[in-house]
Amino acid sequence: MNVPLLATDDGELADRDAFRREVLAGLGGSPRAIPAKYLYDARGSALFDAICEQPEYYPTRTEAAILRRHAGEISDLAGAGSALVEFGSGSSVKTRLLLDAMQDLHAYVPIDISRRHLDATAQRLREDYPGLRVDPVTGDYMALDALPPTIDGARRIGFFPGSTIGNLRPEEAVAFLRRARRLLRADGALVLGVDLKKDTQRLHAAYNDAAGITAQFTLNLLRRMNRELEANFDLSAFAHEAFYDEPAGRIEIYFRSLRNQTVMVAGRRYTFIEGERVHTEYSYKYAEADIAELARLGGFSIAHIWTDPARLFAVAFLTQAQNEKARP
Ligand code: AVI
Repeated sequence: MNVPLLATDDGELADRDAFRREVLAGLGGSPRAIPAKYLYDARGSALFDAICEQPEYYPTRTEAAILRRHAGEISDLAGAGSALVEFGSGSSVKTRLLLDAMQDLHAYVPIDISRRHLDATAQRLREDYPGLRVDPVTGDYMALDALPPTIDGARRIGFFPGSTIGNLRPEEAVAFLRRARRLLRADGALVLGVDLKKDTQRLHAAYNDAAGITAQFTLNLLRRMNRELEANFDLSAFAHEAFYDEPAGRIEIYFRSLRNQTVMVAGRRYTFIEGERVHTEYSYKYAEADIAELARLGGFSIAHIWTDPARLFAVAFLTQAQNEKARP
């Protein structure tokens, strides 16, 4: 596949210091871990798009099919004249399925950490949906405190697709929902995409595709450290490792050292013994009952939930639980 090797973007440059700090802390810690957000430099994002096309990676196409099939019902539940607020919009591909269906939309508010991504997305949407008000917000949706005043007065419908919530630890997922609840206000709602628990084999295949794209995605983090932190990882001396931890209900992803070796990162020396792993991602899977519990802890309740016939993936329409307080 053809992805840029040296591309950088605004977020990447601004994040360089934080990247160095978090990598050094993560490699110095026990167990070793690097936050998953650093997987998404320009090349990592392109590789993730390629993962979504792999035959084994069912979430993207399954969620799109659910949205395509039920966009009319989602639009009815949202009501006419609402504002659609997308958390971590990326290229907003799935959003179009909702934009096409929603009636008399007041505005679309994509939130993304990458200004460049947002500008490109906003411009394309303005071209394709003349008359649609697009009010992008640059920032980390895990830390955002306000939405543009231009949507005051409209019902706020949040959109968090792709099972990105699965990449958060359960306590972080609850914190996200509580923040979304405040941002979307009392009469707001959240359309949430969640990957469902299923047989281990299918999950294993989705994160170990035969073409090796997910492996490239994980090892791209080493490439990024080489480029941005003057590291000297030998990519052929590490391997991608992903497996489903059934009791924990999550995919765990690591890069694993294939031999005893020493690597320099930002002027520091790190020793890896053969078989030693560095954690890069969790991808939590939820049963439908788990989604209800997660929603409750976040201050929401499920108004409706749609799944595909094989029950691989779910899209839930969450409304704010009015009379019960979210548990502390
Ligand atoms: C973005 N996120 C929902 C993906 C997932 O399935 O957890 C990230 C991913 N990592 C490897 N493959 C996909």
